[in-house]
Amino acid sequence: MLIFEDIAPIKEYLFPLKSINQRIGFIPTMGALHKGHLSLIDASRSENEITVCSIYINPTQFNNKADLQNYPRVLQHDIKMLQDAGCDILFAPDDQVMYKEKAIIDLKFGPLESLMEGKYRNGHFNGVGLIICKLFHIINPNTAYFGQKDLQQFIIIRQLIKDLAFDVNLCCLPIVREPDGLAMSSRNARLNKDDRKISGIFYKALNLARIFLLEHNNIEKTEQQVKNLFEKYPAIHLEYFEVRDSETLEPVNNIENHQQISLFIAGYIGDIRLIDNIYLFS
Ligand code: PAF
Repeated sequence: MLIFEDIAPIKEYLFPLKSINQRIGFIPTMGALHKGHLSLIDASRSENEITVCSIYINPTQFNNKADLQNYPRVLQHDIKMLQDAGCDILFAPDDQVMYKEKAIIDLKFGPLESLMEGKYRNGHFNGVGLIICKLFHIINPNTAYFGQKDLQQFIIIRQLIKDLAFDVNLCCLPIVREPDGLAMSSRNARLNKDDRKISGIFYKALNLARIFLLEHNNIEKTEQQVKNLFEKYPAIHLEYFEVRDSETLEPVNNIENHQQISLFIAGYIGDIRLIDNIYLFS
């Protein structure tokens, strides 16, 4: 696997390959890789001649300094995982490379970001949008692969490439889960033993809500079911549970009026924030 840390050399390497129609699949990450990321690498390898992964902990998308400082950093371990997974190229820049000068642009995503992650993490999607634009300009991929765990992020990036006319296909792949249902996430590595034991509750809550909502078609009562469940777990702080249209993220009042609905959840165990979602009909 080739490793690039700077922009010019990776662009010089990829440009001629792209011009002879070698397809480039791209997986942007912040490292601390897990099986969820590996499923994206696998998908890219099966659809493209070249698979590029980036590892960069993007400071502009963190609204919480401690979260940025505590984000797991295990580059050597990640490199080994990528080599074993057959990734061709790793782009691993540092802050000097990605933000030589402070960016002053401010990306707004209107109704797509005034809720859920955007509401609770002020400025988060500006940072995500900014880094994705930069990475797409550098890598110029044919297809970029993302995980469904960050479904709101995926929808926002889809809007971004549409609005800014990026010539990139997007692919959203299913969440990979631990045996107890916990969605794989880089932040899971920070859970202590006791917290890890109860962290499967997020997925349990989503499934309970799904069954209840399909039976009763009553959003308020479904929300109450979820709240009741979390009351039994004082170590967990439920931040939000929301029922939204999977495409537009509009709130859902009646499940019969939407073709695709997702249930979203977020909360804290200690200082570790976890998010998850499932589709209602599947
Ligand atoms: O999902 C992530 O890991 C990050 O938000 C991303 C897309 C790599 C941008 O920094």
